[in-house]
Amino acid sequence: MTTQARPIVAMSRFNMPGDPPARLSPMADLRLWSEKRYPTGAELLALTEGAVALLCVNGDVVNAEFMARRPGLKLVAIASTGYDSIDVAAVNAAGAVVTNSRGTLFETTADLTFGLILAARRRIVEADRYVRAGRWDHNDLDFFLGLDVYGATLGLIGYGEIGQAVARRARGFAMTIVHHRRQRGDDELSRWVELDELLRISDVVALHIPSTPETRHYIGEREFRLMKPTATFVNAARGAVVDEAALIRALREGWIGSAGLDVQQTEPNPDPDDPLLAFPNCVVMPHIGSATMAARARMVGMATENIVALFEGRALLTPVGELAAPR
Ligand code: DGY
Repeated sequence: MTTQARPIVAMSRFNMPGDPPARLSPMADLRLWSEKRYPTGAELLALTEGAVALLCVNGDVVNAEFMARRPGLKLVAIASTGYDSIDVAAVNAAGAVVTNSRGTLFETTADLTFGLILAARRRIVEADRYVRAGRWDHNDLDFFLGLDVYGATLGLIGYGEIGQAVARRARGFAMTIVHHRRQRGDDELSRWVELDELLRISDVVALHIPSTPETRHYIGEREFRLMKPTATFVNAARGAVVDEAALIRALREGWIGSAGLDVQQTEPNPDPDDPLLAFPNCVVMPHIGSATMAARARMVGMATENIVALFEGRALLTPVGELAAPR
């Protein structure tokens, strides 16, 4: 009697919330990256030898060269909404599918976006540092003056599921909401405007567009110069969408008032001398927009269920790109 070899699923992190091995091990052998640091390209390639599916995270690079070495790989299931480190066209050209985890984290990321808006405009992080440093020795009326969020104008660049979730929160703050995206049209929350108008009229400019070759440096010197000198610029999308050198000049020269960033051009970024960290009016987070236990479990769960669907011969739940089923 011959026993049929079980399919292999490679996982690029061992500590994924939601316990994907429990769900997948009845149908596949799991190969887990066991170290705390990220696998290098060569290590990811080695991990996927003989694998049918890869469960990975944003930042893991899968491109044409990778796929040429892994013809047996049928599914790249990424546990994130953004998939800018995956060359989807190259994966599809190799007959494999990419799935993402859309629909699982937009409310969570909108919460963090709102946290950045509040923190930057009300100087929350700066004031916290001040108290911790033992410097709270007076309480004058001009002490830590910030800018109102309630009643301010919010401009959303990108109006997909995250942008709309931010708009729903903004309604509770009586904000005037405008948005810009390719598809024109208003809804009950927000009015569509041209990008330049949005930049001119908004007190808060929040960015919610994916990182693609077309959106690289979508916001640069021209755009920052159009913003109000009191404007708060928030990026919880991707660092590459913003020209970071222009942002630094915008903060240094007062073209804008403050910034709240969950993402940076280079991630992770352990450099304490990064110029962005020198500005007290710039709040910087280590890409934690989706970092709640529940959201991370949903993201990994979606990626896992795509793999289960592949093994059970069902339609994949959230394919991206041209190919919805492997060839
Ligand atoms: C996403 O889902 O795109 C988040 O930024 C995590 O990578």
